[in-house]
Amino acid sequence: MKVQHVAEATWWLELESPDIARRAEWGQFVMIGFGVDHLDPPFLPRPFSVGWRSEEGRVGLLVRVFGAGSRRLASLRVGDRALLLGPLGRPFHLAPGKPVICVAGGVGLAPFLFLAGEARRDGYDVRLLYGEGSADRVFDPALIERLTGEAPVVWTEDGSLGHPGRVTDGVDGAGDQAVLVGDPTVLACGPAAMLRALAGRSAREGFRLQVSVEEHMGCGVGTCQGCVVPGADSRWRKACTEGPVFDASELAWSS
Ligand SMILES: Cc1cc2nc3c(=O)[nH]c(=O)nc-3n(C[C@H](O)[C@H](O)[C@H](O)COP(=O)(O)OP(=O)(O)OC[C@H]3O[C@@H](n4cnc5c(N)ncnc54)[C@H](O)[C@@H]3O)c2cc1C
Ligand code: FES
Repeated sequence: MKVQHVAEATWWLELESPDIARRAEWGQFVMIGFGVDHLDPPFLPRPFSVGWRSEEGRVGLLVRVFGAGSRRLASLRVGDRALLLGPLGRPFHLAPGKPVICVAGGVGLAPFLFLAGEARRDGYDVRLLYGEGSADRVFDPALIERLTGEAPVVWTEDGSLGHPGRVTDGVDGAGDQAVLVGDPTVLACGPAAMLRALAGRSAREGFRLQVSVEEHMGCGVGTCQGCVVPGADSRWRKACTEGPVFDASELAWSS
């Protein structure tokens, strides 16, 4: 196991899990728990995207601390054990031969560390746009380049690193050359407001958009109903088994 502090309140973990490393697909996640033989919370497992894998069977996770579960993960040390269930959920689907634009907000970066590196090796033209509030939250661009083969285009809302503004400005082509060229598939993971803004644009402009939603989850396997999101057809979708990756047109986007 490796645990590395990589940005404010953010850790990079590499765990030995050969079965998950072998089977994981881009966009899938794992539920991580600590079992019932301890008295410290959390008692329920927490979902985290598969952020990378190695041929030797390690799985990488990018963890930002919000509460007890993520704090516990960040405090793991070499030799500690955690329970991993996965890989779970529906992955991203790429259109053969078409360019791929990944739009990452905050730790929504995690699934794209996994996807961008492997998809580039498979011959896809992948552009990674990565936004954070400020420079102290940015996961080291050099490490991203090592994991994915190319440095990301970084945006910070306060302008302290990379381009000033929101990462969605990057989709508009601000600060860079135009990105929505060549009939790309746009993939997005991050805060709900970011996904909603992109879904609105995709509906108006007609580009393909898949989103990965970060709902709270109780079980991760479709039994607790804790993760439902409204569908465009008024039917609720379980983010854990029918997502977390959805075609944006499948979901209802309230303002
Ligand atoms: C499919 C999926 C993949 C995910 N992948 C990642 C990942 O790769 N890296 C990562 O860091 N997180 C990821 N998350 C989010 C992560 O699961 C939560 O941050 C985590 O469950 C929080 O648990 P906790 O016990 O630390 O905090 P809790 O005790 O559950 O929450 C503490 C407080 O923080 C708030 N909070 C919790 N999560 C978030 C959040 N994401 N954004 C803003 N506020 C929040 C809660 O509402 C609450 O107020 C993913 C979620 C899903 C559904
Ligand atoms: S997390 Fe339990 S049904 Fe989705």
